[in-house]
Amino acid sequence: MSDSDDDVPTLSAHTLAALQEFYSETRGGPDPSTSPSDQFTVGAVEEDWRMSQFWYSDETATQLAEEVVREAGEGGRIACVSAPSVYQKLKQNVVGGSDRVSAVVLEYDRRFAAYGDDFIFYDYNEPLSLPAGVAPQSFDVVLADPPYLSEECLSKVAQTIKHLSKGKVLLCTGAIMEKLAKELLDLKMCSFLPKHNRNLSNEFRCFVNYPSRLLSC
Ligand SMILES: C[S@@+](CC[C@H](N)C(=O)[O-])C[C@H]1O[C@@H](n2cnc3c(N)ncnc32)[C@H](O)[C@@H]1O
Repeated sequence: MSDSDDDVPTLSAHTLAALQEFYSETRGGPDPSTSPSDQFTVGAVEEDWRMSQFWYSDETATQLAEEVVREAGEGGRIACVSAPSVYQKLKQNVVGGSDRVSAVVLEYDRRFAAYGDDFIFYDYNEPLSLPAGVAPQSFDVVLADPPYLSEECLSKVAQTIKHLSKGKVLLCTGAIMEKLAKELLDLKMCSFLPKHNRNLSNEFRCFVNYPSRLLSC
């Protein structure tokens, strides 16, 4: 064996291809050169309307993060399903108690893979196709914001929610989904009005299956 300078470590073609794929998929994700709190700012990943992305206002993301921290309790586990802004807000260290819960983000947009092990790739078209490490009924609170206002989409996302949830569910979607949300998950509509960074044409609401403060605020 020689220890000359010629022995430059090299990556196999397979590893190199996997790395290139990772970098191309996460391009446009949060800037890793910024401070941790900037990487988790709502909007650190730009909205892409082709994926039906409409981020909450900072205030709404904070209110929803406060709600899930309160409801998850000490050491609780939170799943943010197609709701990356709430995940980001939980990680920004600005919500009291957020350091005493754990959170993951289930997302179709691989730019969020920049968040490492907290990112779980999720396509609602395959509602139960989740990694083996994601145990059934292992999340104290499941918060979901499905990409489309359709029966087909909500029915599939409801399968995922039931699979993940220990009990508490917080769904954010159009008010027109009220009847279906009740049928599928026994959810009640809250008076709390979530806001987005851009105005949406549809009336938007939160729905819960537990006695939440959001029901009457
Ligand atoms: C209406 S937005 C909800 C975002 C939320 N308002 C927030 O600020 O975090 C819908 C989300 O669904 C995700 N999405 C798009 N296509 C999807 C798919 N096939 N399966 C699961 N999620 C998808 C989008 O990336 C987006 O984050």
